[in-house]
Amino acid sequence: MNVEQAVALHYAHGSLEETIMDALAAAGKDPGRLTPRDLAPVDEFHVGGRLATVAFAEQFGPRPGMRLLDIGCGLGGAARYFAQEHGCLVTGIDLSPEYVNVTNALAARVGLDERVSCELGSALALPFEPESFDGAYMFHVGMNIENKSKLFAEVRRVLPPSGMFGIYDVMRLAAGDLSFPVPWASGPESSFVADAASYRRLLEAAGFEVLKERNRRDFALEVFAQMRARAGGAGPGPLGLHLVMGANAAQKIKNMIGDISAGLIAPTELICRAA
Ligand SMILES: C[S@@+](CC[C@H](N)C(=O)[O-])C[C@H]1O[C@@H](n2cnc3c(N)ncnc32)[C@H](O)[C@@H]1O
Repeated sequence: MNVEQAVALHYAHGSLEETIMDALAAAGKDPGRLTPRDLAPVDEFHVGGRLATVAFAEQFGPRPGMRLLDIGCGLGGAARYFAQEHGCLVTGIDLSPEYVNVTNALAARVGLDERVSCELGSALALPFEPESFDGAYMFHVGMNIENKSKLFAEVRRVLPPSGMFGIYDVMRLAAGDLSFPVPWASGPESSFVADAASYRRLLEAAGFEVLKERNRRDFALEVFAQMRARAGGAGPGPLGLHLVMGANAAQKIKNMIGDISAGLIAPTELICRAA
């Protein structure tokens, strides 16, 4: 099995749309009147969820009508946010056939299918013509990709000069073994967490200027503390990322929080501009 197959298998669920719809109903949501906000607890598959997406958008500067590429869009939560709140036209790409189907189905359910669509494919071989987009972003995907120079070269190819590229990934802060499983990988064979300095070097080599870097460790620890306070010892509510992460969700989250708390890794934003 190659890395991309292992990554797709790691994220495979089997009945994700049905599981999400059942949970929405259990949370009292009317399936005929769903909004992107209703979906946010379950479709923003990165540290801090919707809060992190909003904070990222403030740095990234989306504009109405902007054609954005969402690399590794997962269930499409961020794509629907940029379409709904900023009027962007978002194309997602993802390795997981199930995520692609769920992204498109959820976009249709909230009436955003004209502004959000997702295709099956690899970030390392983007199925798009040069300069197809005005901007691109990637949330919690680089941890699954070893060849980041190929990744950044592909992103650069589909952007015009001055096109914006934003990254929100879990990055390495210090050496040391990570605990597995984590939300993005079952084991070390499909986890390629790199430090921000490596990202910067590879981005610059691919033709990007790095404008901003923001370590989000304190934000992450605050979000985790709030999650614990809200749960108050009880398990997760009906709607949440545990639905997406499967039976060992609690272990994946615990391992990731442990490694963030220990100072080994931290979610980090990089905002770049194509030269
Ligand atoms: C942790 S999830 C994040 C999903 C989404 N970006 C979000 O924040 O909600 C990582 C996603 O990256 C996708 N992915 C990983 N490697 C990829 C690759 N080489 N090409 C395309 N998608 C990839 C996975 O299939 C998965 O959907």
